[in-house]
Amino acid sequence: MQLSANRVIGAEITRLDVHALDDDAFASLDQALLRHQMLAIREQRLTPDQFIAFARRFGPIDLHVLDRYWMPGHPEIYVISNIVEGGRPLGNPREGFGWHTDLNYFANPTAVTLLYAIEVPPEGGETLFADTARSFAALPASRQAELRGLRACHSYRMLHESRPWLPPMTPEQIARTPDIHHPVVRRHPRCAREGLYLCDWSNTRLELADETEARRLQEELLAHMVRGEFVEAHRWRAGDLVLWDNRTLIHTATEYDRERHRRLVWRTSVRGEVPIAAH
Ligand code: SIN
Repeated sequence: MQLSANRVIGAEITRLDVHALDDDAFASLDQALLRHQMLAIREQRLTPDQFIAFARRFGPIDLHVLDRYWMPGHPEIYVISNIVEGGRPLGNPREGFGWHTDLNYFANPTAVTLLYAIEVPPEGGETLFADTARSFAALPASRQAELRGLRACHSYRMLHESRPWLPPMTPEQIARTPDIHHPVVRRHPRCAREGLYLCDWSNTRLELADETEARRLQEELLAHMVRGEFVEAHRWRAGDLVLWDNRTLIHTATEYDRERHRRLVWRTSVRGEVPIAAH
């Protein structure tokens, strides 16, 4: 395995076959993920079963709420794509836009997300990552102290309402996604990192008595969190397997010319722990 660290977040890995890792090699990869937070492993050739088996080495997989985009026969894989075949969309064409951390609206949000690129556009369609531990550390001590006491409401219902093109939620989806409250400053359970655990207003709301002030503060924090010095872009190649730690990173998809180009990415989400507040 050859690893080369990125400028801000993550590392690129070459000369590695993820479906042929013994326990020691997997432990090294897991340590690299903990250290770099995001790994882009180039030139993988994975079947759906191999992709799922590799993801399961990090922990149990959570199925996405939108079951219409599960891969047929492999519900663990959520398909992201603009491709339509025989009148049927292969996946969700508009997933992941807007800064977020995955499945934040669950009591046990995603620890590790894995995306595997089958087809990518020649330009655009990058994924941006922002390090919420660095942005938290860069805040004045008084602001850090104020934020440590706060919680935010994370809501799939709100996210769904912000996407009017989706069909109404089913009773099962509603039952699976009650609103959840997480600390705003989260301590990583495996290392000393403390980061801001916040997404944009579409699905996350700071809990302050004054909602106008909550929105203003949240937007101010998000603008700070995604400043250039905290952000890294991943430029996709077909065969890339990208995995990242959602506990102290947020990310967003970016646009591409969906009329001219095809994008097909498989995603799976490894369940994490209940977020721990940093004190
Ligand atoms: C996601 O946020 O789950 C997907 C990101 C991407 O497709 O770039």
